[in-house]
Amino acid sequence: MHVLGIDIGGSGIKGTIVDTETGEFIDERYRIPTPQPSVPEAVAVTLSEIVRHFNWNGPVGVTFPAIIKKGVAYSAANVDPAWIGTDAAMLFQRHTGCPGCPMLIINDADAAGIAEMTFGAGKGHSGVVIILTLGTGIGSAIFVNGQLLPNAELGHLEIRGKDAEHRASDKIRQDKELSWKKWATRLDEVLQKIEFLFSPDLFIIGGGVSKKHERFLPLLNTQAPVIPAELLNDAGIVGAALAASWTVNTHES
Ligand code: BGC
Repeated sequence: MHVLGIDIGGSGIKGTIVDTETGEFIDERYRIPTPQPSVPEAVAVTLSEIVRHFNWNGPVGVTFPAIIKKGVAYSAANVDPAWIGTDAAMLFQRHTGCPGCPMLIINDADAAGIAEMTFGAGKGHSGVVIILTLGTGIGSAIFVNGQLLPNAELGHLEIRGKDAEHRASDKIRQDKELSWKKWATRLDEVLQKIEFLFSPDLFIIGGGVSKKHERFLPLLNTQAPVIPAELLNDAGIVGAALAASWTVNTHES
């Protein structure tokens, strides 16, 4: 199936058409900077520009960096607070002018996790797998024998009186100009707390910084292996498209 996958991030909104059998892009990626402030209406206008760019009239999967249940956002850690309580699915459907387009909204880390488990570093791994995406915040996705536990918010675990993502996200590393060693120590503390709580069999680290994994993964001390994600920046788009294809298939059967 072909699905338009769109990834809404803090700095850019990007999308393309995905072949959900292979996870491959069948068109060029199209990116528009995220409007500031990132209020719902402005984001919806940008999203509909992407839908129009592809002249798309089919299923759409969209990532969003918040807790999402049945299309509604229930948190807004790194986006405008106006999102809380917004029915993103309805808003986007109204703006895209395609009321018949099945539209699935999913947490960004859950989408990245689905993509990694299906086509990337998590492929074939059973047991408990925890994927963390390190970027502006820390996103998380928990899988048990390949099944997602949606909306885990491990980036907000409290570590030394602060949200884990306020100590160990990649943004904090850059803003505070932390050395790899100092940052790895902070990240290790987060991973060890998660390990104590969930006893995962495998950690997968995603987000742009995972490209530089050899700088910090060897400095971590968890029992479970920690491996880098494979799909990097494309994981959200692929995962959102895949998740949307599953709901379409369910409705058709
Ligand atoms: C949000 C999560 C999101 C993560 C990564 C966190 O601040 O609470 O929902 O997955 O950032 O964007």
